[in-house]
Amino acid sequence: MTIGLGSGSTVYWLLENLGKRVSKGLKVKGVPSSVKTEKLADKFGIPLTSFHDIQELDLAIDGADEVDDYLNLIKGGGGSLVREKIVIEASKHVIIIGDESKLVKGLGNRPLPIEVIRFGWEVTCRKITRVGAECSLRLEGSHPFISDNGNYILDCDFPTITHPASLHEQLTSLAGVVETGLFVNSADQVILGKENNIRFLER
Ligand code: A5P
Repeated sequence: MTIGLGSGSTVYWLLENLGKRVSKGLKVKGVPSSVKTEKLADKFGIPLTSFHDIQELDLAIDGADEVDDYLNLIKGGGGSLVREKIVIEASKHVIIIGDESKLVKGLGNRPLPIEVIRFGWEVTCRKITRVGAECSLRLEGSHPFISDNGNYILDCDFPTITHPASLHEQLTSLAGVVETGLFVNSADQVILGKENNIRFLER
């Protein structure tokens, strides 16, 4: 089985446990969605492959920053949204994991990450502001955060996002925008850990 390996602190636990199963004989190959995940997969002994060798993945498992009742997502809190979207779109089945704090009534409680190319990011930022957000350049210490793809991330605070698909279209039509953290119709299943049980949401 081929598995798209997401990114983030929840996915860390997936990788650790998958590694244990691999050591007991489970036959899987993963495609990592970030450099961090690639390093963790190596550490936990999960064999990796890449899109050079395979076209499609059987399954992707990833985290999310927000999930709404329709299984739309905001992702990119860790800055890996572009590769995560490529991995998810290449997967036949997508499972999102998280704790119940990720479930929201409407997307947009937290800023939407948008990856932009560095050239003219100030212009791109102003254009996104005109769409209705307050944007700030993501920093790492006192320097701009650089994504695995060499780009900047703008964290964009929108009022509640009622039409994620059309907002995504509008944003990706702007020059300089590489990808947004809005994942619409991406997840097949969401598994949320609660204090004493698990909640499953399905499409
Ligand atoms: C990484 O860019 C993200 O999309 C993560 O999947 C998301 O931020 C969830 O991360 P946590 O599991 O750390 O909350």
